[in-house]
Amino acid sequence: VKNAAEAVTNADTPHGEITLATAFQHGMRVAIPGSRTRLDLPLMVSVRDNGGGIPEDIRPHLFEPFVTSKPSGNGLGLSLVAKIVGDHGGLIEVDSRPGRTEFRLHLPVVVDEEFDAP
Ligand SMILES: Nc1ncnc2c1ncn2[C@@H]1O[C@H](COP(=O)(O)OP(=O)(O)OP(=O)(O)O)[C@@H](O)[C@H]1O
Ligand SMILES: [Mg+2]
Repeated sequence: VKNAAEAVTNADTPHGEITLATAFQHGMRVAIPGSRTRLDLPLMVSVRDNGGGIPEDIRPHLFEPFVTSKPSGNGLGLSLVAKIVGDHGGLIEVDSRPGRTEFRLHLPVVVDEEFDAP
């Protein structure tokens, strides 16, 4: 959200807009290449902005620490997000072009065995 806010606060984006969305995507499963395991990731959180998009040279290293295009950026935001989402067994989808950037976080739900027991 901080990145989205920074992306829309410049002269190139006179009508900045940030859209936050959440969803419960029942049956959202992700296959892991080379494995029969499927990740069950029904929780979705999306942050979308209409800023200039992620710079081309940043893209391959987007989630690495200290990668930044901002004069006073630390490049720590997304590496922290990736670490937290990864620790939860989730994943992040990124879709970015000039005027439309979206980060979608997919997360699992905790299955409470006690609660589920008949
Ligand atoms: N919504 C976005 N629109 C355009 N570029 C983005 C967006 N989010 C991230 N980026 C690009 O990815 C880079 C890395 O983002 P990250 O949040 O990790 O660090 P930062 O924002 O530069 O610094 P910090 O988060 O530590 O203040 C940014 O510098 C920017 O180039
Ligand atoms: Mg940031």
